[in-house]
Amino acid sequence: MKGKIIKLLKDSGNDFVSGQKISEALGVSRAAIWKHINVIKEDGYEIEAISRKGYRIISSPDILTFEEIRSYLFTECIGKNIIYYDSIGSTNSKAKELAEIGQEHGTVVISEEQTTGRGRLGRNFISPKYKGIWMSIILRPDIITENISQITLLGAAAVQSAIMKMGIKTSIKWPNDIILNSKKVCGILTEMSGEINHINYLVMGIGINVNLEEEDIPHELKDVATSIKLESGRYMERKILIANILNIFEKLYIEYVKNDNINETIEICRKNSNLIGKEIQLINRGKVTTARAIDISDKGELVIENSQGIIEYVVSGEVSVRGIYGYNK
Ligand code: BTN
Repeated sequence: MKGKIIKLLKDSGNDFVSGQKISEALGVSRAAIWKHINVIKEDGYEIEAISRKGYRIISSPDILTFEEIRSYLFTECIGKNIIYYDSIGSTNSKAKELAEIGQEHGTVVISEEQTTGRGRLGRNFISPKYKGIWMSIILRPDIITENISQITLLGAAAVQSAIMKMGIKTSIKWPNDIILNSKKVCGILTEMSGEINHINYLVMGIGINVNLEEEDIPHELKDVATSIKLESGRYMERKILIANILNIFEKLYIEYVKNDNINETIEICRKNSNLIGKEIQLINRGKVTTARAIDISDKGELVIENSQGIIEYVVSGEVSVRGIYGYNK
């Protein structure tokens, strides 16, 4: 009901909507509407109420509900169902729980904060309230398990393009980090449930440090992590960034799963890669090797030249590169 009232008010822009009109449209009493309006105000909406004229929204809070994101969202499916939390342990864990019980493809779980946000390799992921984007997309692609790592690249390409669309030039540290001024501003954690040749579902978790301040970044991470605001000095509207990501992601995703075409994604990853041409350390299942990154293949593998001068194609792994938050970090 709350969402429907907000939509009605937003749709009429600066014009007042009478209590009568809202109650007719939604089939509830005017007294009930008034109660809902009070709850909406508690959520941070500034609402003007004038007798005989009705209600109108003066300002909306910076929150990541569907009502706030919808006017920037142009997708068919991805993000059309947003499950919103004020606070949660981990959106990835919640999305997996929901996917297990049949939550549909394209659902996005978003929380304003995570109390036990998870990163790759069992690391914690700091997710302070109202400062970033902490979201997980439930996907049910009909692809072979072997190609899952390509889905992460779709996510990285979408985040990279969306941030660039908002005027900030980041780069991609293959396969799943977005970097700004040599420090990380975004990480992606893709998790799956399935068998060898069948995927039940994937959950792609995206964490972006958007408007974090110095004090939001723990001391021990200061050398490796930053936020878009800290680096650019600009406050970025999270709801617009989310919508941009979902819009671009859906386009890349459809091309990939329906037309088996990953070219645009690879092009974005290649063009914005900060590994190509650099000496890197690759950590795969605990084994560390030094190599030179040469390219990203048409399938999304990292192409490296190993220390014996042999060309290898790497599907997944943790990479560190000198200059981008140092080796071994
Ligand atoms: C990494 O860089 O190691 C991956 C970080 C992924 C963080 C996101 S935030 C939303 C989602 N929920 C989680 O618990 N993790 C992912």
